[in-house]
Amino acid sequence: MFIYEKKLQYPVKIANCNPKLASFIISQYGGPDGELGASLRYLSQRYSMPYPELKGLLTDIGTEELGHLEMIGAIVHQLTRNLNDEQVREGGFAPYFVDHTTGVYPTAASGFPWNAASMAVKGDVICDLSEDMAAEQKARVTYDNILRMSDDPDVNNVIRFLREREIVHFQRFGEAVRLAKEKMDQKNIYFTNPAFDK
Ligand SMILES: [Fe+2]
Repeated sequence: MFIYEKKLQYPVKIANCNPKLASFIISQYGGPDGELGASLRYLSQRYSMPYPELKGLLTDIGTEELGHLEMIGAIVHQLTRNLNDEQVREGGFAPYFVDHTTGVYPTAASGFPWNAASMAVKGDVICDLSEDMAAEQKARVTYDNILRMSDDPDVNNVIRFLREREIVHFQRFGEAVRLAKEKMDQKNIYFTNPAFDK
């Protein structure tokens, strides 16, 4: 179960309206490498993870990603609240606005709605942890791209925090792969799942 704490992991306080920025930051809400997919990937993978410490790691990181999802939602909301009609039309925000007004909806910047096909749960230790490492790097690159395009310091200091967390997660999944390999049959160079390969 979860216990909700009514605060963000890192504060989001954006002074200026900017629908153009919101139109691509939404990708980290519901895009292919966004926080919704990240949280569901880890929280779903944990059931088939045979090692308790790695099951715990997936729960920890999956829960933190839910916290990141609400930070991205807060950014998009704060960038688009109080829009006037002129601002709705500028900066490429109109296609999003026509479908969702200023509600926060899980979609990619391209307009493709969130899809479970953007994440995987294979039920295999090495396969899932390898995907997790790649997913963290893809999220980091998306944050890099947002920083390349955004010049709002109120947004960028939050994005930098999130980017750093992706790097920490990548390192923790790297440690998880090493730990998993130690626990698996060292003579089996493919590191297949010992639950199936007795
Ligand atoms: Fe992450």
